[in-house]
Amino acid sequence: MVERVKTGIPGMDEILYGGIPKRNIVLLAGGPGTGKTIFGQQYLWNGLQMGEPGIYVALEEHPVQVRINMRQFGWDVRKYEQEGLFAIVDAFTGGIGEAAKRERYVVRDPTDVGLFIDTLKEAIRDTGAVRGVIDSVSTLYLTKPAVARSIVMMLKRVLSGMGVTTILVSQVSVTERGFGGPGVEHAADGIIRLDLDEIGGELKRSLIVWKMRGTKHSMRRHPFEITDKGIIVYHNKVLKITRGGISEVTLGEE
Ligand SMILES: Nc1ncnc2c1ncn2[C@@H]1O[C@H](COP(=O)(O)OP(=O)(O)O)[C@@H](O)[C@H]1O
Ligand SMILES: [Mg+2]
Repeated sequence: MVERVKTGIPGMDEILYGGIPKRNIVLLAGGPGTGKTIFGQQYLWNGLQMGEPGIYVALEEHPVQVRINMRQFGWDVRKYEQEGLFAIVDAFTGGIGEAAKRERYVVRDPTDVGLFIDTLKEAIRDTGAVRGVIDSVSTLYLTKPAVARSIVMMLKRVLSGMGVTTILVSQVSVTERGFGGPGVEHAADGIIRLDLDEIGGELKRSLIVWKMRGTKHSMRRHPFEITDKGIIVYHNKVLKITRGGISEVTLGEE
């Protein structure tokens, strides 16, 4: 039997037949505003509620802003940080600014992969993290796509080796249908793609699990919503995108 890590996101574990297989490195790909950051934060918060420590690696936002954003969904992580069960790795500020001086895990030079990995390991050891989110992994190789695969392989060895089930947030442009580039897509154990599609003047959210090593998963595109409490996935509904428009079908009523 496969050991799994439950995302705890309503509807998501049903699509994954119980959760993400333990130690998998999952690419969470999507365009801007598709909900990648919220998905990752909800995954970590739910872990904390189940007694599973985690780390969030902030590459695109100030750690102070990350805490504020999470609190807006009712996910107040400060208590867990004080208890040493949760850590935000600051790979954003480079240690610059007053607020950054109060951060415990700071990557002084985020372009230094060795330093980045060392700080990551320290945070994992200290917290005993079994869940991790790197937001976004694309930031690590945006200016040097040639090393994307080797960076992801290195992260995979370290994180999986330390027993961490990880979400790597992957940025793709609005029009792109891919997941973040061939090297990265093949190295990842799983790929979840989040989408926003505009049809008839309305944006519809949906997600699809493209790949997940070690388990069966839904092969359908499911609609989801972002609410004040986070993401809700409609595992019993399918979003069909055709030339005629988008239609939502409830399974069993097709
Ligand atoms: N409280 C909320 N209720 C509904 N939607 C929200 C709420 N907060 C944020 N959103 C939606 O989430 C989007 C941002 O999600 P985010 O996870 O930051 O996207 P990404 O990381 O993929 O760029 C916003 O553009 C907005 O549409
Ligand atoms: Mg984001």
